[in-house]
Order: sequence, then C-alpha cells, then structure tokens
Amino acid sequence: MPVKDAFSSVVPNFEQVEPMHPSRRRFVRALLGGSLLASVVSFLYPVFRYVVPPKTVDLGGDTVNAAKADELKPNSAKIFRFGSRPGLLVRTADGEYRALSATCTHLSCTVQYKSDVHQVWCACHNGYYDLTGRNISGPPPRPLEAYEVHVRGDEVVVSRKQGA
Ligand code: FES
Repeated sequence: MPVKDAFSSVVPNFEQVEPMHPSRRRFVRALLGGSLLASVVSFLYPVFRYVVPPKTVDLGGDTVNAAKADELKPNSAKIFRFGSRPGLLVRTADGEYRALSATCTHLSCTVQYKSDVHQVWCACHNGYYDLTGRNISGPPPRPLEAYEVHVRGDEVVVSRKQGA
C-alpha cells in the first residue's frame, strides 16, 4: 500500500493537510534534538559524577583537638576529623596515644582500630597496619600517615609532624 493511501486511511482529509512550513519544521527538529540531548545528558551526568568524584579540598589546619583526655579508655579508639580527612586516635592498652590518618592507602576506605589484635584494620580488603601506621598485611601499599599527639590540659591535641 502506498504511503499516501496509508495516511489517508488514518488521517481524514490527508490530502488537504498543508505541509509544514520549513522554519516550523526546523523548530520542531531543534526541539526534538534538544530534548534528546537533554535526556542523554541527564542519564550520563550522574554516571560521570560517580566515576570522577569531586576533588576534596584540604581545609587546612595542622592541629586539631581530637578528643577529651578522659574520653578514651585504654585499648580503644575514635575517628576524628582532621581537615577534610578522617583521623584515627588510638589509646593503646598501655594508655599511650597514637594518631594516624584513617584513610587506607589502598583504595581510601576508612580504617578502624581492632582492639582484639591491637592493630588498625581496613575492612574493605582486609588490610592491616600496626600502631605506628606501618602496613603489615593485605593489599595496602604504603603506611598510614602518623601524627603527633600531645595532651594539653583536658584535650588530646593532634598535629601533623613537622616537615611531613
Ligand atoms: S581499601 Fe583498605 S585494604 Fe583495600
């Protein structure tokens, strides 16, 4: 069946329908093209943002009050905020304080203190560090950055090591 006959059966008076003016046709095409482009961008943008995360800005600050002096019992730890990154403050079983970066050097998961083995553990791929930050097993390729810790009054103060 010719196309013209097919349209005639669906659209009454098909022959009398005026062809679209070229400028109107261009406008409709641009509208459809723009809609299609907007749809594609709306699907791809979240994927792009997931694959390329925004750059984290270090908010600075080489010293932070990480905890109150009486906050941590021996053989426990807490996560604290150090600039834009998490830090891990550990109070060892002997009562000493240690502070490390809490960002795993493998794929940047946040590490935690494992009190049963007295080590720092990354749950993502079962990586282990000792309490000086040295990577001792699993996939982490480098040690965790170690910070200085001082108890000043009733505050536990953590600072970046000079020259680090
Ligand atoms: S991200 Fe920590 S071991 Fe893989």
